[in-house]
Amino acid sequence: MYQSHIDLSAHVRKGVIALLQARLSDAIDLEAQMKQAHWNVKGRDFFQLHELFDKIHGEVEEFVDTIAERITTLGGIADGRVQTTAKNSKLYEYSLETNGGEAHLKAVAAVLAQFGKAVRADINAATEIGDADTADVFTEISRATDKQLWFVEAHLG
Ligand SMILES: [Fe+2]
Repeated sequence: MYQSHIDLSAHVRKGVIALLQARLSDAIDLEAQMKQAHWNVKGRDFFQLHELFDKIHGEVEEFVDTIAERITTLGGIADGRVQTTAKNSKLYEYSLETNGGEAHLKAVAAVLAQFGKAVRADINAATEIGDADTADVFTEISRATDKQLWFVEAHLG
């Protein structure tokens, strides 16, 4: 960690940086998965789903930036390398066999829900460690993830 004049102890910063780094790896994986869905979806609702998955990709790209910049704000090094991401992401692997609109919607819903659950747990963890601002970052991302999950699940009826 870098030296900083910020009024959070090194202990607090180290604790929340670990939470943030774990979610950064997940979020970069999630970002790539949304493009995977965007590129490969087929079927009657192709265009709508192609657009929907790209829109979610755009949201997740912002999560990635917000998480990474919170790490550097706290004096850490944001590790967004693909090697680190592949090794540390806890998300389901997107299947290459995913075929058709409904299968892509279900795959995207499952991974969004998995990511959302982890982020929600991070809200409490960051609060307990003593960094309300990082808890707020996670709260914002959690709320936005829930909303994207709603958009996806609304297509599944
Ligand atoms: Fe595209």
